Amino acid sequence: MTGNKMFYASLTFMAAFGLFSTAGAEKVIIAHRGASGYLPEHTLAAYAMAYAMGANFIEQDLAMTRDHVLICLHDSTLDATTDVAEVFPDRKRADGKYYPADFTLEEIRRLHARERLPRRFPRETRLFQIPTLEEAIQLVQGLNASTGRDVGIYPELKDPSFYKDEALPFEQTLLEVLAKYGYDGPDANIYIQCFSPSALMRLREEFKTTLPLMQLISDNKMLEGLGYEKIAGYAQAIGPEKKCIEENPALVTQAHAAGLKVHPYTFRKEFVPKAYADVKEEMRTFLFKYDIDGGFIDQPDLMKAVVDEQKQ
Ligand code: G3P
Ligand code: CA
Repeated sequence: MTGNKMFYASLTFMAAFGLFSTAGAEKVIIAHRGASGYLPEHTLAAYAMAYAMGANFIEQDLAMTRDHVLICLHDSTLDATTDVAEVFPDRKRADGKYYPADFTLEEIRRLHARERLPRRFPRETRLFQIPTLEEAIQLVQGLNASTGRDVGIYPELKDPSFYKDEALPFEQTLLEVLAKYGYDGPDANIYIQCFSPSALMRLREEFKTTLPLMQLISDNKMLEGLGYEKIAGYAQAIGPEKKCIEENPALVTQAHAAGLKVHPYTFRKEFVPKAYADVKEEMRTFLFKYDIDGGFIDQPDLMKAVVDEQKQ
């Protein structure tokens, strides 16, 4: 038996005796882009709703403006979730897209955030703006002060190589903002997530952050290429696409054995695999059969209900 095979065989044996089980440990509800199933993603309203629904973490995907301000936006472009084409019709690049990196914060303030998906919140409203990361943090920390709860943040560095090419200080600014708001050291109530292993390693090695990091995983090939032990050298958690766990449920035990939490993405009421009656059944399976530590959900109230079932 090769070294690798022996390693995984011993994990299987230990898992059979429950040595890596996190049964009984608190599962964390991560509000995906806020309560994005009910309100347009990455708006302060969606974050506040997620908080009120009992989320343990609120996610902020990040983009950067031309004047170096971090804003909460999923895409590298403004097209899908704002009215940019109506407000600034002449500001698209040759590829026909509008990039936040070409706008100042003052200009971003003139846009309205819109619903991305059909059959959710009506798209044609002018109720919402794009928040900055600082505003998102102020909201969460303000609610922590007024409620006595301790909800964390879960920012994602989206497309760091794009900002590197644009000569914009993406990672450095994130760490500066987090330090300003007291996120400091390995016990801070935050995970910084990214799909790029090199960006996360740079945070650890070049920027010397000691904050918790989470490696996003798009497929099992990526996970196999990286390996649990290597990831555990710089991160505290992995965020696999849900199908990675469906294809290989032992992934969770193997990650736990390496000291990594497992926070898969994304549970959505409207997109449930055929094997499950509804998203609650899907989440029960992931949380209590596969033993994930928490997950990203567009409807945080539904995951809260599933987590609370175990407490009754
Ligand atoms: O960050 C977890 C999950 O949100 C990754 O996918 O595209 O929704 O950012 P995406
Ligand atoms: Ca994300």
